[in-house]
Amino acid sequence: MTDTLTLTDNRTGKQYEIPIKDGVIRATDLRQVKSGPDDPGLMTYDPAFMNTAACRSRITYIDGDKGILEYRGYPIEQLAERSTYLETAYLIIFGELPTAAQLESWKEEITLHTMLHENIKKLMEGFQYDAHPMGVFLSTVGAFSTFYPDAKQIFDEQARKKQVHRLIAKVPTIAAYAFRHSIGRPYNQPDNELSFIGNFLNMLFRMTELKYKVSPALERALDVLFILHADHEQNCSTSAMRGIGSSHVDPYSAMAGAAAALYGPLHGGANEAVLRMLKEIGSIDNVPGFIKRVKAGEGRLMGFGHRIYKSYDPRAKIIKRTADEVFEVTGKNPLLDIALELERIALQDEYFVTRKLYPNVDFYSGLIYQAMNFPVTMFPVLFAIPRTAGWIAQWEEMILDSEQKIARPRQVYTGSPRRDYIPVDKRT
Ligand code: CMC
Repeated sequence: MTDTLTLTDNRTGKQYEIPIKDGVIRATDLRQVKSGPDDPGLMTYDPAFMNTAACRSRITYIDGDKGILEYRGYPIEQLAERSTYLETAYLIIFGELPTAAQLESWKEEITLHTMLHENIKKLMEGFQYDAHPMGVFLSTVGAFSTFYPDAKQIFDEQARKKQVHRLIAKVPTIAAYAFRHSIGRPYNQPDNELSFIGNFLNMLFRMTELKYKVSPALERALDVLFILHADHEQNCSTSAMRGIGSSHVDPYSAMAGAAAALYGPLHGGANEAVLRMLKEIGSIDNVPGFIKRVKAGEGRLMGFGHRIYKSYDPRAKIIKRTADEVFEVTGKNPLLDIALELERIALQDEYFVTRKLYPNVDFYSGLIYQAMNFPVTMFPVLFAIPRTAGWIAQWEEMILDSEQKIARPRQVYTGSPRRDYIPVDKRT
């Protein structure tokens, strides 16, 4: 067996041997396939990158048919059960689980960087009272590039590390301030005696009490949710992070773009859309009618379907268990029954079965967030905080990959052939 692909161009009758490595052929190897001397060579056409690998990566492994997700080789189920978000973030960014000493110093570094510059606070105060927190989040991340010009030193390892610490540490603070801004309450300063998650809850929810008391069950649930959202290989926002970062801009500017990609309802905005959909359905009795409308093409069942997972989303399984644990503390979310009924009907309906549409990570996460008292507009932000680990890791991998260049897809031009300019008074 030889690892090559033999290609016959029926336009010319010529044959080509294209090497196959790691299950892929290089798209540029096709450029030698020409129909004549003026032909620039064969390209592939792949809108939405349905079958194109844009990088080699050692970070996250997904087998969509088997429902497998691993960070740096560790199964998501084990990490969700035994790790914490901060430890998982370290694993994703640095490639190995930290030793006890490394974990301590990682936690210390992160704790040292939780505060925001006073001028960042002023910037955030300038947003309208009803500004969507995700809009505030992505704008503030972008503004960071003006506060930390050393971030431009992207090939300096120490400078990169500094931005890693800043980003992981400050995104919860931005998120909490965006939330407090939206409800017209004063910002809470970080409390560095609390855990990463405990401090986040403190910045969000502390009122007049001197010390915020963290519910261990909710703290653990949020930690698990953060682990599940920490990376997901080459999804839309990560591709944006890599694509923007490939121009060698600083990581804050690149991450503002990644967060913008996440904001959309087909990506990280889906958890918000699920809750709005469940509210709109209103009661179990309306579920069959809603499914009928989805099948007729009048909208989508939000929180269902995935480009990669075609059997189930392993994150959704874990989230369902976490939901039960949270509801024991908070009481059941009344929308849960509608969600369960939607899932029950959809999983046996021919439309969803033949299209391999299963609940994804966003189907139940919103119900948990709502039970924890987060408004729906905060849901995409709660996705962005942990995904920061994945974005940074993928960005750094791309920067250091000698095979990478500025991202620049090709196109198939379908516009007008060359024509001459017509003065305005001559146009009909
Ligand atoms: N409800 C109803 N029909 C659907 C859905 C859905 N949620 N998702 C896909 N389909 C249908 C679609 O209409 C198409 O049918 P047909 O072949 O008859 O035209 C078929 O399934 C294939 O869909 P597609 O749009 O080609 O699939 P895709 O891989 O491009 O889209 C997706 C993936 C996640 C964008 C899509 O499934 C979707 O819109 N889901 C709802 C939004 C959502 O929950 N997004 C969160 C994704 S997971 C978290 C994350 O990573 O962001």
